[in-house]
Amino acid sequence: MTILVTGGAGFIGSNFVLDWLKQSDEPVINLDKLTYAGNPENFASLTGDARHTFVQGDICDRALIDRLLAEHQPRAIVHFAAESHVDRSIHGPGEFLRTNIDGTFTLLEAARAYWSALEGDPKTAFRFHHVSTDEVYGSLKPTDPPFTETNPYEPNSPYSASKAASDHLVRAWHHTYGLPVTTSNCSNNYGPYHFPEKLIPLMIANALAGKALPIYGDGQQIRDWLYVTDHCSAIRAILAKGKVGEVYNVGGWNEMPNIEIVQTLIKLLDELSPRADGKSYAEQITYVTDRPGHDRRYAIDARKIERELGWRPAETFQTGIRKTVEWYLANQDWVANVLNGSYREWLAKNYEAR
Ligand code: NAD
Ligand code: TYD
Repeated sequence: MTILVTGGAGFIGSNFVLDWLKQSDEPVINLDKLTYAGNPENFASLTGDARHTFVQGDICDRALIDRLLAEHQPRAIVHFAAESHVDRSIHGPGEFLRTNIDGTFTLLEAARAYWSALEGDPKTAFRFHHVSTDEVYGSLKPTDPPFTETNPYEPNSPYSASKAASDHLVRAWHHTYGLPVTTSNCSNNYGPYHFPEKLIPLMIANALAGKALPIYGDGQQIRDWLYVTDHCSAIRAILAKGKVGEVYNVGGWNEMPNIEIVQTLIKLLDELSPRADGKSYAEQITYVTDRPGHDRRYAIDARKIERELGWRPAETFQTGIRKTVEWYLANQDWVANVLNGSYREWLAKNYEAR
């Protein structure tokens, strides 16, 4: 048996691949285009591991996906590949529509053709799992209850609109063609290999580099935060026990305003890697102009996945964020390579000659 993972060189996808191969020997075909966010260094520890096959390619490339499905006969597709950064979607939405909508459409069509031709147990067992976000539900007021799976879709950014469109396609491919899909809508993840353009890794990298810690607007925007390996275990649970056609909200039961996230990081950095001048990293906080259309609050009601699949996060925010800061302190080369783009040279060295 084999699974096909898309976007397995990105933040969550690479954590998923590493975690998957820690838990089982079932091989992974890892399809990733290696955009700026894809980094093969994330799975450098799998070099020479026959259970992992990396393929550089685009989810919009139907012929490539058809070939991979025919060749490897996966029992499941786990679809992470996406453009994922809200700020980038504001500056340039086109690529978000192409990858998140057209790419998901292409993958669904390839999966449908492949699954339709299967017979017996492989056909019954096949799953297409779509990884999505809580941002499709829009923004909550301070007293609103957290998002459940039946909340209406009200996406506000080009990113969340493109993810919402992909969720609708996945739903329609199940209802119309019977494709055995599941979808998860997860809150903000954090942890190792998080690209330093997102809040938590950016703040750690900037703090250590002596740069400003840019807080958008008043810093009172609220997100729910989940340690990335907990997201991975939720997806494993859905693949193993999830009901076809169902949606599962995944979250960490940890709503926090951005400024508190940054203050937590500052406290940990002051303890684990104090500034040379003895001052706190808090000196580097700078309030900057808010993001246009900035969603004020996201919160996830994760009771369905707990009730039906027995999943709960293993990490608290306190344990997860400490692990995260310790990982970034121990892996400053990874950050430096991401920032100076030198992982692309590593890529040429490691893959072009193969
Ligand atoms: P990421 O930006 O770190 O990684 C995305 C990966 O997809 C990269 O490796 C990139 O090279 C690859 N990719 C992009 N376009 C591609 C294409 N056309 N073909 C093949 N590969 C392509 O993103 P992430 O944070 O790891 O998010 C993964 C998934 O999880 C996304 O679908 C995202 O919407 C969803 N999600 C993310 C979060 C979060 O907090 N990061 C939360 C909930 C859901
Ligand atoms: P981000 O990590 O980009 O995730 P998302 O927008 O998908 O939730 O941002 C998390 C929150 O942090 C969001 O409210 C925007 C805010 N933010 C800042 O205040 N400063 C920053 O430099 C960044 C990148 C984000």
